[in-house]
Amino acid sequence: MATLINRTLVLVCALWCGALLTAVPAAAHSGLRAAADEAGATLSRVSRSLRGASGAAAPPAPKYVYTWAGAKDPSLGGKDSLFVISLEDKEFGKVVGVVPTPYAGMEPHHCTLSLDRRTLGCGGLFAALAGTPGVLFFNVSGNPRAPTLIDPATVPQPRFGAFADEFIATPDGGFLVTLMGSPTGGSPGRIARYDAARKLVAEYPDPARFADATTLPGFNPHGMGVSWNHKVALSVDYLEPASTLNGQVVTKRSTLRLWNTSDWSAIAETIDGSGAEGHINGPMDAVAIGDTGTFLFGGGNGYIYYLDGRGAAPHAPKLVWDLLGGAMDRTSYGCILYSFRSGTRLLASAFVRNMVQLLDTTDPLKPKLLDTLQLPKGAGGHVVRLSADETTGAVATYFLDEGSVGQVHFEGDLTVRLFKLNAKATKIITKKPAKSVVDFKTRMGAQGAFRPHGVAFY
Ligand SMILES: *[C@@H]1O[C@H](CO)[C@@H](O)[C@H](O)[C@H]1NC(C)=O
Ligand SMILES: *[C@@H]1O[C@H](CO)[C@@H](O)[C@H](O)[C@H]1NC(C)=O
Repeated sequence: MATLINRTLVLVCALWCGALLTAVPAAAHSGLRAAADEAGATLSRVSRSLRGASGAAAPPAPKYVYTWAGAKDPSLGGKDSLFVISLEDKEFGKVVGVVPTPYAGMEPHHCTLSLDRRTLGCGGLFAALAGTPGVLFFNVSGNPRAPTLIDPATVPQPRFGAFADEFIATPDGGFLVTLMGSPTGGSPGRIARYDAARKLVAEYPDPARFADATTLPGFNPHGMGVSWNHKVALSVDYLEPASTLNGQVVTKRSTLRLWNTSDWSAIAETIDGSGAEGHINGPMDAVAIGDTGTFLFGGGNGYIYYLDGRGAAPHAPKLVWDLLGGAMDRTSYGCILYSFRSGTRLLASAFVRNMVQLLDTTDPLKPKLLDTLQLPKGAGGHVVRLSADETTGAVATYFLDEGSVGQVHFEGDLTVRLFKLNAKATKIITKKPAKSVVDFKTRMGAQGAFRPHGVAFY
């Protein structure tokens, strides 16, 4: 494994280290021309009960979509950068800011806004290969239109895990971060916890007790949902990162992990999903259904499963939905899920079908298809997120392209697509298609195409 990583480092460095030394170019602001007429659907902002905020202060209307993207060819001078897309009527769909990091090649992955709306957590999937920090934070508390990178030297990096995937906002203003692999891309990975001051609190499970692949076999967490009221969390193991590099056999996982949020030092229960209906194989994402102690997750096989995490072990997943509509070919690169706060709706992306489905999950054991955002053939469709008020959505179409060093080549069409929902969240609306597609192939001009993976609403 170490040799493999060293070889990869040499390759990656051959590709990227030169780019690291070039100066950060000024962010270009020529890009998208956005006409000044009104954007998208006009939505009733009255129907709040569905969106789970009755009694509480209404969540703020969305202003920006942050997009975390890396340069496809860093030799053209592009850096891993945070893009700010405006949702204001007069500039809907326009990139109004680009904040470059000093890095290239970290493979910008997921990003999430903290619950106190002060900090954006951003991960670099291949930071360990590129020799950059894997966990970065942007300060959005001063001017959300112009975030600033918080000095990476002040951000302690995880020691036991790497290959950062999902950021889950915690009630204290911090984050849990799933780290899919060990620092060399093997197993086990970890789950890191940061507090609101961006200090690394711990890595879970306790590395002193669960040090290696013998005491913690197959732990490669990707997606995670948390029910804070019920003190239960579900993380799902996707695959071993280094196994995706050339010459390796891709090692997918099928284990699900339940956690007791009162004590993260050990995994409460490990569930082997390989024998479940449809055979769970490479589950990528998991979400909590409201705050009910129940979860939905993708099985890596085109199916969506339900898991009730309440009560005593053992817990068993139940197949509840087929994203691929009964197809014999179960090829799926995994799906990303977004569960509405109320738990009665789910968005599920399917890269292989270039689409996002909107499901009614009022009965999570019997989801019903409400609508489909169908993208052009070859577009892909991956990270899908909604604004805090759940009126507006964004889907980034780039999955991952490992280039000459690896076996994963799912680039999609390098866009972020904006959409709205009707008041009852039964329909997906894209009234101004031209302004709803932000094209990262052309936005940065001479720096070439960028690869948008993470999206987060402000
Ligand atoms: C974030 O920006 C605000 C406004 O500029 C500033 O007051 C605050 O100190 C910054 N926080 C961090 C952690 O840099
Ligand atoms: C979770 O952990 C706490 C503290 O150790 C314990 O009191 C509680 O019983 C645990 N919950 C479950 C469901 O095991």
